[in-house]
Amino acid sequence: MRVAVVGGTGDFGLALAERLAESGVEVVIGSRDAARAEEKARDAGAAAGAANEDAVRGVDLVVLATKADAALPTAGQLAAAIGATPVLSVASELRFTKEGVFPTDDPRSIAERLQDTLHGPVTAGLHSLAASSLAHGKAEGDAFVCGDDADAKALSLELAGHVVRGRALDAGPLASARALEGMTAVIVNLNKRYKGHAGVVVTGLP
Ligand SMILES: NC(=O)c1ccc[n+]([C@@H]2O[C@H](COP(=O)([O-])OP(=O)(O)OC[C@H]3O[C@@H](n4cnc5c(N)ncnc54)[C@H](OP(=O)(O)O)[C@@H]3O)[C@@H](O)[C@H]2O)c1
Repeated sequence: MRVAVVGGTGDFGLALAERLAESGVEVVIGSRDAARAEEKARDAGAAAGAANEDAVRGVDLVVLATKADAALPTAGQLAAAIGATPVLSVASELRFTKEGVFPTDDPRSIAERLQDTLHGPVTAGLHSLAASSLAHGKAEGDAFVCGDDADAKALSLELAGHVVRGRALDAGPLASARALEGMTAVIVNLNKRYKGHAGVVVTGLP
């Protein structure tokens, strides 16, 4: 599998790229700055680094890992270059306040809004994995992936399976992204409250 990680120079994308490269996945790190992408690709053991627009060409799956509020505009800019290739969204819109971290007030997930912009199928997942948990090896716990396209979801689940110690679980249609994106707020609140690295393990499944 060849995977582009757009915004792969950030905390989450870089940790993800490292874990994928360790698992033998061919990873291309994307950045708005090609030189930064190449430098981070060397650090991560990735196959290559390139400007986002070049990184997404000729891959099997694009992971959109820019900072969350750049996900939609970046998808708009890259839609033609991405074409019909599936896109995995890991983005969660969070609002940081004195009282805690809140999920977005928008009733539609970022992933569903991305699907309006992109030509290929969108999946969403990995929201319960903190960058700090992925940074030093496979993340503890399970990963969730949702989506409406069976093939895109199978690829995204395969990717998720490379980066967690637990299971990569199919969480249903793309509409589940509303809950999954909110889960990042829950994880961040837990980490702040208990000063840890929370992960999620689902019980009761065969
Ligand atoms: N951090 C976590 O623990 C965590 C957990 C679960 C999910 N996520 C999701 O993963 C994604 C990345 O999180 P992060 O913490 O790694 O974010 P980040 O470090 O703030 O940003 C990631 C990358 O986004 C790119 N970027 C920044 N502003 C941009 C813009 N205006 N347009 C295009 N690209 C821009 C930058 O790459 P270049 O400057 O190189 O282009 C940056 O390295 C987010 O959507 C977040 O919701 C994060």
